[in-house]
Amino acid sequence: MTQVIQNILQKQNLSKKDIVRLLHTDETERKLLFERAAKVKEEYVGKKVFYRGLVEYSNLCGKNCLYCGIRAGNKKAHRYEVTEEEVLEAARYAWENKFGSVVLQAGERSGKDYVRRIERLVREIKKMSQGELGITLSLGEQSEETYRRWFEAGAHRYLLRIEVSNPELYHRYHPQNKTHDYQARLQSLYLLRKVGYQVGTGVMIGLPFQTTEDLADDLLFMKEHDIDMVGMGPYIEHEDTPMYQYRDQLMPRMDRFYLSLKMVAILRIMMKDINIAATTAMQAIDPMGREKSIKVGANIIMPNLTPSRYREDYLLYEDKPCTDEDAEECKRCLEARIHMAGGEIGYGEWGDSKHFSRRKKS
Ligand code: 5AD
Ligand code: SF4
Ligand code: FES
Repeated sequence: MTQVIQNILQKQNLSKKDIVRLLHTDETERKLLFERAAKVKEEYVGKKVFYRGLVEYSNLCGKNCLYCGIRAGNKKAHRYEVTEEEVLEAARYAWENKFGSVVLQAGERSGKDYVRRIERLVREIKKMSQGELGITLSLGEQSEETYRRWFEAGAHRYLLRIEVSNPELYHRYHPQNKTHDYQARLQSLYLLRKVGYQVGTGVMIGLPFQTTEDLADDLLFMKEHDIDMVGMGPYIEHEDTPMYQYRDQLMPRMDRFYLSLKMVAILRIMMKDINIAATTAMQAIDPMGREKSIKVGANIIMPNLTPSRYREDYLLYEDKPCTDEDAEECKRCLEARIHMAGGEIGYGEWGDSKHFSRRKKS
């Protein structure tokens, strides 16, 4: 059957049927997919892997996504917010170690004070690094005005995962109320683009009730919305969440892992010049998960810079790696891993999505 796969891989545009077939590849067939994706990556984005130092700023969240370990309803989660000094210290570490950018990630919150605090942090990171550090935000759905204020303060990329592009499934994984509205999330992606951010999105892979057709649609969604960056990874169950009740219906973790790897490879073939992250959730299943992602198409890695004392508390899912390590250990560990995967590190570069630069020019 490898001829069928070869034929699909020769096509200019993949149809939904082609994508579904690629997602169903067996062990022999998937090697062809991975080889093709590796070639496309080499040709269009090269060997360089860019760092985004990740600061998990706070696990406070006003939402209640049914899959997430830090949902507001999880009373067992011990809540924290990293102090301003600690954020700046982490950013300084990133800057001094020539990471091109930092990412500030947190649960979804609003409120004047909060918006102002983030705005100030963004400005201070810019100032401290003499404008050199790129800043990515991953702080959930906000108003257009808030997006604009943070943009003007100096953030230039924003990550907002659609989580699952099928609205019916979206409703199954979220409470039925207006703070968890599919259309509003979609609208947010438009607003971010309008304000001028490089826009990132992503999905979870291997959720209960999700089919390979749904996953093919997720990839087509990214293409249709002309997304600049993607971070996606396997869904991993968390005991203290409502979705844990469906754990018996999940595919084995290793299958979720390989399905995620195929998603990365197919996306690289479909969207040749975007930035794709090797996500931490990949490593939660396979200790070599991120290296494997890099080999088949990913070009972004997010070394964890969250101060060690908070790491245990940012537990979105079980078996999250790097919770016992500190910034220095993660840096060393990742360097070795990227070299093993045949990559080079783009030290001191922003590593913006080439797709974004082209989109801006046209
Ligand atoms: N498994 C995998 N990923 C998860 N996320 C949240 N909960 C889980 C889980 N149980 C992801 C979501 C969110 C990102 C910050 O973490 O996609 O956007
Ligand atoms: Fe909050 Fe994000 Fe978790 Fe949803 S996935 S509960 S918005 S941190
Ligand atoms: Fe954190 Fe390897 S990247 S310990």
